[in-house]
Amino acid sequence: MKAGDTVVLRIGDKSYTLPLVVGTEGEVGIDISSLRALSGVITVDEGYGNTGSCQSAITFINGEKGILRYRGYPIEELAERATFVETAYLLIFGELPLPTHLGEFRRLLSENEFIHEDMRHHFEGFPPNAHPMAILSAMINALGAYQPVLLQPEEDEHFIDAAARIMSKVRTVAAASYKKSLGQPMIYPRYDLQYVPNFLHMMFSKPNRPYEPTQEVADALRRVLILHADHEQNCSASTVRMVGSSQANLYASVASGVCALWGPLHGGANQATVNMLQQIHDSDMNVDDFIRQVKDKSAKIRLMGFGHRVYKNYDPRAKILKKACDDLLSKLGIHDPLLDIAKRMEEVALADSYFVERRLYPNVDFYSGIILRAIGIPMNMFPVLFAIGRMPGWIAHWRESHLNPSARIHRPRQIYVGHTERHYIPVNERS
Ligand code: CMC
Repeated sequence: MKAGDTVVLRIGDKSYTLPLVVGTEGEVGIDISSLRALSGVITVDEGYGNTGSCQSAITFINGEKGILRYRGYPIEELAERATFVETAYLLIFGELPLPTHLGEFRRLLSENEFIHEDMRHHFEGFPPNAHPMAILSAMINALGAYQPVLLQPEEDEHFIDAAARIMSKVRTVAAASYKKSLGQPMIYPRYDLQYVPNFLHMMFSKPNRPYEPTQEVADALRRVLILHADHEQNCSASTVRMVGSSQANLYASVASGVCALWGPLHGGANQATVNMLQQIHDSDMNVDDFIRQVKDKSAKIRLMGFGHRVYKNYDPRAKILKKACDDLLSKLGIHDPLLDIAKRMEEVALADSYFVERRLYPNVDFYSGIILRAIGIPMNMFPVLFAIGRMPGWIAHWRESHLNPSARIHRPRQIYVGHTERHYIPVNERS
């Protein structure tokens, strides 16, 4: 099939010719945007499992073959060789940066690493046990109030400023929210450190004891962030595009992405996975018994870190992370019993017809939490790390939608299934 081809849809005794949309990797969609105007009928697709919400040039996934590419580059190459900052630039602006562009982007990231001193007071308004994702989304929205000039960075020359500001400050806010939860003073960023070591410094340094991450730790976190940087039209990226489609500003749109990511079926799954592994470990439960419970639908237990809407094969990110997990733990000399449970769980699940028939494999969240744990990142910060990683993807999606001349506000329709018309009865006459 090629661009220009059409498909004919029959509804009752009428036929409608609809255009096909063909992507660069041969994916085909039926453009139904004129269907209601032509026929009065809409399409229904709860959960959007079969709906292409846009055409996008950012990320390609082939879920059957387990392929993931950012702007055409295989995830395996980027995870092995790229820095997080150049991956972010690639996602947002479409090409790997030339040395001068990378230098400028790095400079902007460093210039913007502080948050406004007044913003430190915002942290005091949160209770000590506030989930850092609640703090992160609120603070990103608040950041917008401090940079009103950049609220509508439509012109591309300002866009790089806005992108660098958000990416840089989000890391400072994330580390500060962790420090707040410990009751420790916030640690200022260091101009001499690159993106990942700077974040680790803000997380783990104390005023009386500096923290220098080892190369292994910085490299493992670099890899985790790159692997989380984008994943096409997932729940949070679609949320960012949806919010941005009303022409809401970049900060508000990205803050909504954080909220969408928080849920345990999305970015909260890394925390939920380690929680699950920890509970199995603490209760001395047998992995086979746990898998039996998962298969018993009445127990309503899911194997967290398993399954994916798009991947019907091993998630390529999970493959890289599983190896990274082994490498990091062996370099740090850590034996984590949760990794043993995870591996046994994978082995049992992949040999079980329940998982085989449904094509459920480990996803990105299955091993990432064990890496973060080894680095010393507490569990409630796991989704925050996902959010820091996903920030370039959200920014890229917001920019792509805003640059699309035919973009319209996102406004799905519905099939109404409620009461038909009825009439108001005063309260004392109701039975
Ligand atoms: N454990 C047990 N059964 C599962 C699981 C799981 N993790 N995932 C899917 N299934 C079953 C599900 O019960 C259903 O069975 P049946 O056909 O008998 O009703 C079938 O597989 C299809 O599942 P679905 O819920 O229709 O699939 P979905 O595409 O709507 O959901 C998912 C995808 C990722 C939400 C789901 O697989 C899940 O809940 N996984 C666990 C949570 C998780 O790890 N999320 C992270 C996803 S990857 C990173 C990210 O997006 O942030």
